[in-house]
Amino acid sequence: MTTAERDAGGRTAVSLGMPQPPAPDYPAEVRERLAADAQEIIGRYPDSRSALLPMLHLVQSEEGHVTRTGMQFCAELLDLTAAEVTAVATFYTMYRRKPSGDYQVGVCTNTLCAVMGGDAIFDELKEHLGVGNQETTEDGKVTLEHIECNAACDFAPVVMVNWEFFDNQTPESAKRLVDDLRAGAEVHPTRGAKLCTFKETARILAGFPDERPGAVAESGGAGPASLIGLRMAKGEEPAARVVSQRSEPHPDNPPPDALEDQPPAGHPSSHDAPQQTSASDPAHPPTASADEPTEEEGA
Ligand code: FES
Repeated sequence: MTTAERDAGGRTAVSLGMPQPPAPDYPAEVRERLAADAQEIIGRYPDSRSALLPMLHLVQSEEGHVTRTGMQFCAELLDLTAAEVTAVATFYTMYRRKPSGDYQVGVCTNTLCAVMGGDAIFDELKEHLGVGNQETTEDGKVTLEHIECNAACDFAPVVMVNWEFFDNQTPESAKRLVDDLRAGAEVHPTRGAKLCTFKETARILAGFPDERPGAVAESGGAGPASLIGLRMAKGEEPAARVVSQRSEPHPDNPPPDALEDQPPAGHPSSHDAPQQTSASDPAHPPTASADEPTEEEGA
């Protein structure tokens, strides 16, 4: 560990701190079980070091975050240095470095989601849960965090729970979502199988099968808004509008002719911001446009 200090001449000097003692090893039973899983992962790659990312998910599935013990385990089995493993584990935000909740609730506050309501969702969830960014509720259920763009801008604003998508959210639907998670209700994302805990998700990301009955079949495919480019590439006529306007405007959401800067008629945008409709908000269900493909057609 290094620390930066200023010397008498005001220059920055870097001094070496006390080295940390080696991380404690896993209990024998845990190590034996993880080592067997690790060999299965390593066997998938021609070069063992290529297995580092799924190995980090594996150790994360054990403790809910990547500990020094987990990183040491990865380094030993992959013949890497602790520094090499640490560099990777601290670079990718999918690896957590401290104990967190069963459900990682990430609100996209990147540009598009932010202007579509992501900032408002994040602010209201902070107040509703009584936690700040990267903090966990007292019951250990929910960790709230900002996330960067998750390539689902066509469904903005997006919330992710354990990396599953909740599309077209509103502050109300997001609050219901976290309430359901804390109450232990069965929660289904907009696209994909029902949620499992962060540790269970980490094991799937390590490359082990999702053993839950029907989970793989429920995984589904891309939504209509994501498929519009593919349809155009195939020479099909694009839908004029992927998500149509709601017939009954929300009181807080003025009708289109009351808004400035409306997109031109037939603009193939997936949204007409600001719009508070939500696929997961029963009070404001989205309405399918006549030319929007059904699930079967869009697959
Ligand atoms: S900006 Fe939120 S998914 Fe892209």
